This record gives sequence, structure tokens and C-alpha cells, in this order.
Amino acid sequence: MATPVYKAPRGLRDVLPEQMGAWRWLESTAHELARRFGYREIRPPLLEETELFARSVGEVTDIVEKEMFTVRKAEHSFTLRPEGTAGTVRAYLEAGYAKTAPFQKLFYLGPMFRYEKPQKGRERQFTQFGIECIGSLDPRLDAEAVLLAVSFFRELGLGGLEVRLNSMGDGADRDAFREAVRAHVEPNLARYSEESQRRFERNVLRILDSKDPRDIELNQGAPRLVDHLGDENRAHFDRVLALLDEAGVDAVVDPTIVRGLDYYTRTVFEVHCPSIGARSALCGGGRYDHLVEELGGPDLGAVGFAIGFTATLAALGDAGLLEGRDEAPADCFVASADDATHDAAFAVACELRAAGVSAVFDQEARRLKGQLKLASKAGHPLVAVVGSAELADGTVQLKDMSSKEQETVPRAELVGRARARLAATGVSAADGSSSAGA
Ligand code: HAM
Repeated sequence: MATPVYKAPRGLRDVLPEQMGAWRWLESTAHELARRFGYREIRPPLLEETELFARSVGEVTDIVEKEMFTVRKAEHSFTLRPEGTAGTVRAYLEAGYAKTAPFQKLFYLGPMFRYEKPQKGRERQFTQFGIECIGSLDPRLDAEAVLLAVSFFRELGLGGLEVRLNSMGDGADRDAFREAVRAHVEPNLARYSEESQRRFERNVLRILDSKDPRDIELNQGAPRLVDHLGDENRAHFDRVLALLDEAGVDAVVDPTIVRGLDYYTRTVFEVHCPSIGARSALCGGGRYDHLVEELGGPDLGAVGFAIGFTATLAALGDAGLLEGRDEAPADCFVASADDATHDAAFAVACELRAAGVSAVFDQEARRLKGQLKLASKAGHPLVAVVGSAELADGTVQLKDMSSKEQETVPRAELVGRARARLAATGVSAADGSSSAGA
């Protein structure tokens, strides 16, 4: 076959039907857990005004300086969302929740876009499952967010994960920390990367999450905010740690976590899977107590996280947990025994579908043997065979592919028999999924 002329743009990829079983598993787990924790789904648009991200993620951040997919139309500038928090808070304010029902627990699931260098675990379009709990400063909600993330991975069966927490402080301790980082960086400023030198004046804290090896080296021994927290922020952080401990979450305090987005205050956390390599963060999040106000709303606390599907799928794949997650084939393959019954096979497939039993038929007029081979290879649990004799006496041969039993069934009873056999093999006729596997 000739090489395709067009390819997906670099860093973007197709999710093919073969991979959909795994994706749906993640999506349904996300939906179920979010519901269990009291979160409701929100679907903000993929495009927002560019200014929204500069304002929330921060003007002097990798995302805003280098990674945004931006389009200009007339005098407007729009950006494909690089993350979900900004759009969710914008939607929260626009919907009037701040006045009508300020405490909201919202979740989203969908694609995000960042113009990053494509590499293992980094894509330019990637999917996140994110939650945002807006309207409270209660540390129980920080702990709950961590617990929800941990429960998601537990539910998928993923082990060997590390939950890392830090506090970014807020107010006076954050200001003092900024000055301390300045004092640490300044004597060696000329040896830092150009980017960090540029950021020194405008956003010194971003120097701490620089990926440049020179900066990483120079950042050794930089001050750690968690050591200088004011009383209130210390108490908040200790409470979160205690709640997680009580809930049985094995979290470690990692003072090096600073996150790459500017809106964070107090608790920040990441969930890592060290075995997948350098880009090991499956989840990142934390508190952002000034963002609602920054975007024009009242002074309300908020906390959230986002789980990346790319890294999660990599971790699941490495752990062998994606085996057998393929989407189930149609419940019934309808075969025609001879040339006279092709249309009858089509009609039988239509009858089954109308009754909620998924069905496919052979579109290539293969010989019966070929059709049965095909059906067996594809793993359809049932095969219905329509031949001229059956057509004449109003019956169908129904074959159960697991027990190999075959029975002659009056056409009017086919749906009922098919359902009974599917129920016996653990396949639900309603959604075509196997209750035993995927
Ligand atoms: P983030 O740390 O930028 O946080 O992203 C969260 C997760 O998304 C990462 O841990 C990673 O698994 C995945 N991710 C990020 N960029 C890429 C990429 N280029 N390719 C593949 N996966 C990626 C946020 O986005 C915040 N909005 C999270 C949050 C919500 N904080 C509070 N609320």
C-alpha cells in the first residue's frame, strides 16, 4: 500500500477503535468516581479568549509564553485550552454560580492542547480528567481531591504510585519566599539559562521549575517554602497531611514541587508513576485561592487536579493492565447460507438491532464456511444462520459460539433466545459489553 499522503500533525494522534476499550474504561471510571465524590460534569468550550490563560496560568509561564495554539480572527485572539481550570472558573463565573450557589464541585474530561516538544509522555493534544471544587477553603477538600485522584488509580488497579505534596504558602510567607529565592538566585544569575535570567525580574518562582540542566544544578539548595510557612498556612497543610494519613493515603512531602502554573496557593500535589520514566506525573493539582477573584469574581477558595490520560495509559500498559480491554464485538453475526438469503440476513440483523441486540452481517457474499470462520475470529458470542430452508419455514439457526450448541429457532423467538444465551454467557445485550472482561 502506498504511504498515506497526509499524516496527523506532529504530536497529535488518532485514537483507533482498537484502543477505544481502554479509553472508555478510563472515561467511565472517571465519571463513576466523580459522581461518587459529588462532582458534576461541566463542558466548557475548547477555545477561550487568549487573555484568559495569560491572566490565570500566568503570563510568564512555559504554557503561555511558548505552548499555546492561538488563532486570530479579526481583532480577536482565541486559544485552544492548554488546561481546564481557567475555562472552568470562567464558566463558573459566567453562569452566575458565585452569586446563586458559590460552592460547586465540577469535573471535566476532554482534550487539552499545548505546543510542547513531542516526546514520550508529552503530546500536543492530550486528554485530561480534571476536577475543580470552587467556593471553600476547607482543608478536607484538599484531602478529598488527593483521595479522588488516588481512588481513580486504585480503581484501575495501578500500584507503585507516589503521592507527593507540598505547600506553596500564600500571602506573607509566599512574599518572603519569593525574596528568599531571589537572594539565592541573584549571586549566580549570569550562570542561569537565558530564560531564567529573563524570568528573574518578572516571575522568579518559575526559575524553580526550569527543566534546563544548568538551572537544576544551580537551584540545588534553593530555599523551600514548606520550611517557612506562616502559622495559618502551616496549620492548613498539617491538617491536609493528617486527613490523608487517617484516610490511609501514603503521601510524602516533596518540597521541590512548585508546579508550572502561577495560580497555585497552599496545597499542591502530584501523583507519579516512577516506572514510566522521566515524565512520570499522572496527575497534578492543588489549591488556587485567588483565581476566582483574579478573573473578576468574589474572594473564594478553590482546589482541583487534572489527571493525564497519556501517562495513565502508559502506566497501565507497562503494568499489563490493558490486556483484554478491547471493545466487545457485536453480540451476533448473521450469516447467510446461500445467495438467496443475503437480504434475509440483512433483515434478521435489522430485527436484532431494533430489539437492542447488536448485530453485523457479511457484506461480501462469502461462502458460509468463510463467514463462520470470520465470526469465530472476531469473537461474536452468537451466530445466526439464515438459509433457503430456514427462510421457507420461518426459522433461523442460532449458534452459541462458546458452548458450540446450535438450535433451530422460529424467527419470532430469535430475539428472546439471543438475549437468553447472551445473559448466560455474561454478555449484556443492552450495551454489547462483557460483564466478565472489559
Ligand atoms: P498539569 O500538571 O499541567 O496541571 O497537567 C496535569 C497532568 O496532565 C500532568 O500530570 C500530565 O499527566 C498531563 N499532561 C500535561 N501536559 C501534557 C502533555 N503535553 N502531554 C500529555 N499529558 C500532559 C493542570 O493542567 C492543572 N489545570 C491541574 C489543576 C486543576 N490544578 C487545579 N485544578
